[in-house]
Amino acid sequence: MTMTQHFLDVDDLSREELDDVLDDAEALKSQETGDDDNHALLPDKTLAMLFEKPSTRTRVSFETGMTQLGGHAIFLGPDDTQLGRGEPLSDTARTLSRYVDGIMVRVFNHADAVELAEYASVPIVNGLTDDAHPCQALADLLTIREHFDSFDVQAAWVGDGNNVAQSFVIGCAMVGIDLTVAHPEGYGIDDSVIDRANQFDGPNVTVTNDPTKAVADADVVYTDVWVSMGQEKERDEKLQAFEGFQVNEELLDEQAVLHCLPAHRGEEITGAVIESDHALVWDQAENRLHAQKALLTKLLS
Ligand code: CP
Ligand code: NVA
Repeated sequence: MTMTQHFLDVDDLSREELDDVLDDAEALKSQETGDDDNHALLPDKTLAMLFEKPSTRTRVSFETGMTQLGGHAIFLGPDDTQLGRGEPLSDTARTLSRYVDGIMVRVFNHADAVELAEYASVPIVNGLTDDAHPCQALADLLTIREHFDSFDVQAAWVGDGNNVAQSFVIGCAMVGIDLTVAHPEGYGIDDSVIDRANQFDGPNVTVTNDPTKAVADADVVYTDVWVSMGQEKERDEKLQAFEGFQVNEELLDEQAVLHCLPAHRGEEITGAVIESDHALVWDQAENRLHAQKALLTKLLS
């Protein structure tokens, strides 16, 4: 019996598997825009999608991706399953595994995704937890490689050391991107994530509390919201702490700009930057679709 391969963070893939997923994503993307768009690689496969938090990109890109691959996706919001009435995650994982070929999960506690993976006999794909957003990182890497034609770039993360940042740190480490993270004191990347990242060959991640220093030599600058879903009570405190960390025209020079979206214009980034020629955010959002199709084809085939 082969082991079920889950995708809870980017380093659940080997470096070779990550390269393959990015190459397949690029191929699927060019097929889609070419004449031959018949890539029904997952006929009759079904993906269940469990959402505890809202989503625009993740939901629509996974659902569309499954349709384009010849399969089907089932959206299960917080009120749609018996989880809302107290059915355990372990029972839900085992039951869904008897019906579907994969389960995408967007949950608050990362430990819940881990528990689902423990009990599921089909792949669990992390569509965002409080700790990680690996599908986003796949799209981020694809966007960087597409734009710069290589991973020989310097990147800066400016802002919260959140879920998106943590998976980006791991992704950059795996492909050898030289990354500096600038965050306010107390809002950094977990030590355990830095340790995992620094196990890979290539430059170690640099950490600073100075955004200007972080972006000085960067080719690409990435930011995300200061108040993530579930942190609404910390809003006032976080807005104060992140003063000086806005990605705006004064901070930037000619760097390309990434944002996983949704963006809060006037907080972590300005409208002018998002709307500028330097922003890669729409390609980045599109690349969620292609990267996830490649990932699903690998995990569910
Ligand atoms: N970037 C991202 O995951 O967006 P959604 O919350 O809209 O899915
Ligand atoms: N860090 C954000 C990402 C949303 C896609 C959040 O968790 O709300």
